[in-house]
Amino acid sequence: MLYRISRFFIFLLPPEFSHHFVLKILKIVNFFHLIKPKEIPSEKPILLNGLLFKNRIGLAAGFDKNAEHINIFQNLGFGFLELGTVTPKPQPGNPKPRIYRDVNKLAIINSFGFNNVGVKKFIDNIKASNKSVIIGVNIGKNAITPYEKSTDDYLKCLRQLYVHGDYIAVNISSPNTQNLRNLHNIKDLENLIKKIVNERIKLHKKFKVFKPIFIKLSPDLNLKEIKPIINLLVRHKIDGVILTNTTIDKSLISKAYRNIPGGISGLPLNKKSEEMLINVKKVSRNKLTIISVGGIMTPQDAKRRIQLGADLIQLYTGLIYQGPLLVDAIRREL
Ligand SMILES: Cc1cc2nc3c(=O)[nH]c(=O)nc-3n(C[C@H](O)[C@H](O)[C@H](O)COP(=O)(O)O)c2cc1C
Repeated sequence: MLYRISRFFIFLLPPEFSHHFVLKILKIVNFFHLIKPKEIPSEKPILLNGLLFKNRIGLAAGFDKNAEHINIFQNLGFGFLELGTVTPKPQPGNPKPRIYRDVNKLAIINSFGFNNVGVKKFIDNIKASNKSVIIGVNIGKNAITPYEKSTDDYLKCLRQLYVHGDYIAVNISSPNTQNLRNLHNIKDLENLIKKIVNERIKLHKKFKVFKPIFIKLSPDLNLKEIKPIINLLVRHKIDGVILTNTTIDKSLISKAYRNIPGGISGLPLNKKSEEMLINVKKVSRNKLTIISVGGIMTPQDAKRRIQLGADLIQLYTGLIYQGPLLVDAIRREL
């Protein structure tokens, strides 16, 4: 109820401004120790890919792009946080306005384009936090890097972030960086994955620590496209997939928003994301860890994803529409 009232006022503000405004307020509240993690007695930690997750609920990438709010989100009850997307160099992202709310559909349309402080400052921010949960670092390419050189950017991020994240999320599915989704093409994907896996072998030897690698996929793939991608990931011993990023299917939102560029998240993505989970589960034959994300708006949605075979889930748009108490409500439901 309290969040519903606050949301009324928050939604009067422009979406990008309100995002930063709410995070500033939460930062102050957290500074005075007013956000305290709740104990849920029934909750048991989960061991996956050598990582011990406090619970199955994660913050999706894009909410804390610069790793500036780790302390807040871990106190809100998340079992893991995926930070980023971060790119080798800082970049401003696409011109504003670049985020809209389609309130009637419980959706968000965003075209941010990886606005972030760059990998160096990102690492400083992680170091300055009191990290106590699993941290995933979500990596991408700079907009000015030509598509043919994409792999170089991912490798730069991987090398610098290897010791700072508990897992690495390779984002090939944002619709807001030109041609990025072409990395789903089998030939380009195989080239990228081979290089990432080879680099991981070197980093593993150098630092004597193994970090799982998850690939974040688009929801706009059909079963015919999914099969070779998943077979390739399994063949190259990738540890898991994050299903899914935003969709570009504009038919899912209100007419007034259909000409706005960007990817759609929230309730309209629910079915697509769930279908991806079902299909990938079938094709991967339990060889990949699955993080399910997209349109999880209620504890029942979260429970269904776990029942369908997801190992972990993540939230973004659900938090905007339902508020931060959604995290504890899901923790109690699972
Ligand atoms: C405003 C906004 C920014 C996002 N930025 C990123 C990003 O930088 N990297 C990424 O991998 N996903 C990003 N996402 C996608 C989310 O991580 C998530 O995959 C997607 O929103 C679906 O989940 P949801 O329906 O719960 O929001 C962003 C989503 C939103 C709404």
